[in-house]
This record gives sequence, structure tokens and C-alpha cells, in this order.
Amino acid sequence: MSIEIEALEHVYNKGTPFEHVALKGIDLTIPEGKVTAIIGQTGSGKSTLVQHLNGLLMPTGGFLDICGYHIQPLLKIKDIKELRKKVGLVFQFPEYQLFEETIEKDIAFGPKNFGTSEEEANALVRKVLPLVGLDESYLDRSPFELSGGQKRRVAIAGILILNPEVLVLDEPTAGLDPQGATEMMSLFMKLNCEMNKTVLLVTHDMDHVMNYCDHVIVLDHGKLKHESDVQTFFQHPDWMLNIGINPPALIRLKMQLKEKGFDIPDSILTLDELVKCVAGQVSADE
Ligand SMILES: Nc1ncnc2c1ncn2[C@@H]1O[C@H](COP(=O)(O)OP(=O)(O)OP(=O)(O)O)[C@@H](O)[C@H]1O
Ligand SMILES: [Mg+2]
Repeated sequence: MSIEIEALEHVYNKGTPFEHVALKGIDLTIPEGKVTAIIGQTGSGKSTLVQHLNGLLMPTGGFLDICGYHIQPLLKIKDIKELRKKVGLVFQFPEYQLFEETIEKDIAFGPKNFGTSEEEANALVRKVLPLVGLDESYLDRSPFELSGGQKRRVAIAGILILNPEVLVLDEPTAGLDPQGATEMMSLFMKLNCEMNKTVLLVTHDMDHVMNYCDHVIVLDHGKLKHESDVQTFFQHPDWMLNIGINPPALIRLKMQLKEKGFDIPDSILTLDELVKCVAGQVSADE
């Protein structure tokens, strides 16, 4: 089932001098079983939007339908715990998600909260830990003495352990080194391809969008600016430039080659295709 969002509005601190309209009527369908990127400049409303998906924030207008739940203003969500199990959200700032005294307890918290025995939960922790690139030497350490990237790995493990249907990741590779970021993206792709999870990824990394995602949603000042498949999106670099987003390296290279007079079709979206295209024109000139 896809995720339907209609006329979604979110006003922070409504009716106070600090009132701020963060989402201004968003209409969206997020496809099931795909990897969707949510992009946009800082403050455009990405984190606000994704926090509605598991009922962490409630709409102040409009509604959303997700995993059989209908979420609308002033309507109490029945069995919100179950919704949070189906829709796993990894926060932008992982420290908000960590609170136990050891990493083992922190990751085991979710399953124990759902009635899994301590023994079973601890066995699950040992299964999920290598998926996020950590080993058992971390189990007894405090989550608060970890680096930013390690905290993020623990926070992701704490969500994966619940085996959610929809995985919502708010800037999951921020703070990771390039190799760590690639490993993490590969893990999300594996969960998508092999276990058919719907993945939503908030990111500022356009190379990740281009290399790993199927669908793109662009927010701008609380509004939906664009929505399309990744191929269509990257054939229009002006869409990114118009809202101050730096295109991925390959698209920047295409733009530079076009400026130098090469004829580069918009449809080219891989380095191999680009090399062949340019090589053809260089040898043709000789
Ligand atoms: N708790 C809050 N109270 C009041 N305003 C908020 C709150 N959280 C966010 N905002 C405001 O809502 C707008 C959208 O914020 P949001 O965090 O959703 O942006 P974002 O696109 O995730 O940005 P970033 O890329 O920096 O993470 C911003 O103007 C922000 O200042
Ligand atoms: Mg954010």
C-alpha cells in the first residue's frame, strides 16, 4: 500500500507569538516498495514531514494514510505503538533516540517493549549489530560515549531490530565517513531489494539520490516543489539550481562539457554512457 498525503499542513506553536507554518498543504503519494529521497534546502520542512509518518508530529491540517492508519488533526491514533513498529523512523539527531545505559539495552529496548523476552531480544541485538557495522565489543559501552557516526549506527540498529515495513531515515549518513556512508546505503538498498521494504530517505547528498533512489520529492519553504522518478529529475538540473541544491558530480560534469560545446543528451545518467558519448565526439573531430 502506498503512503497517501493530502493537503498536509503543520504549524508549530499555533496561536502563540512563535507560530511558524512549516508545511503548507502537501499532496503526495509515496510509492510502496521503492526508495524515495526527500530533498530540499535546510528549513524546507523535510524533518517535519517525515515525523508525521509515525505519528510523532500530528498534522494541523490535511491528513495522511499509512500502513492502514489514517492520521488527521485532533484524531487520536489507535495503537500508536503498533504504528511505530510498522513505520521505523531514525531521527536526524541520533542522540534524541538513545537513552539506555548500554548499547545492548538501547537496541533491545524496542523488542522488549513489544513483549519479546530479554534472552530473545539480546539474541536479536547480536544479529542486527553487524548489519550496521558494529561488533559485540560495543554491547556494554554507553551510547553516550560514542562518536556521532557510531551513535547513528546504534540508532539505526534500534529501528532495524523491529523489522519495520517502512523505513524512514532522516539524514542517515550524516557524520559517517565516505566508506561508512556507502556501507549504510548498501544496507538500505539490500533491505529494499531483498525484503521489499519501502525506504524514505531525507538527504542532502545528491550522489546518493542519483545512485540509490527510485523516486524524488523536493520540498521548498514548506511546499512540494517537484515529485518525479530519479531519471526524470536528473535530466533537469535547473530544478536543483533554482532552489539552491548542488547537482551531483556527474551532472556538474555534464553541464561543464555542454558549456565546452559537447552535445550531451539529457538522458545520459551514468559515467560509462558519458565517457562513450564524449569519446565518440572527440574521435569524430579528429
Ligand atoms: N520544534 C519546532 N518549533 C518551531 N519551529 C520549528 C520546530 N522544528 C522546526 N521548526 C521550523 O520549521 C521549519 C522546517 O524545519 P525542518 O526541521 O522540518 O526543516 P528541514 O528541511 O528538516 O531542515 P534541515 O535540512 O536543516 O534538517 C524551519 O523553519 C524550522 O525552523
Ligand atoms: Mg531536518
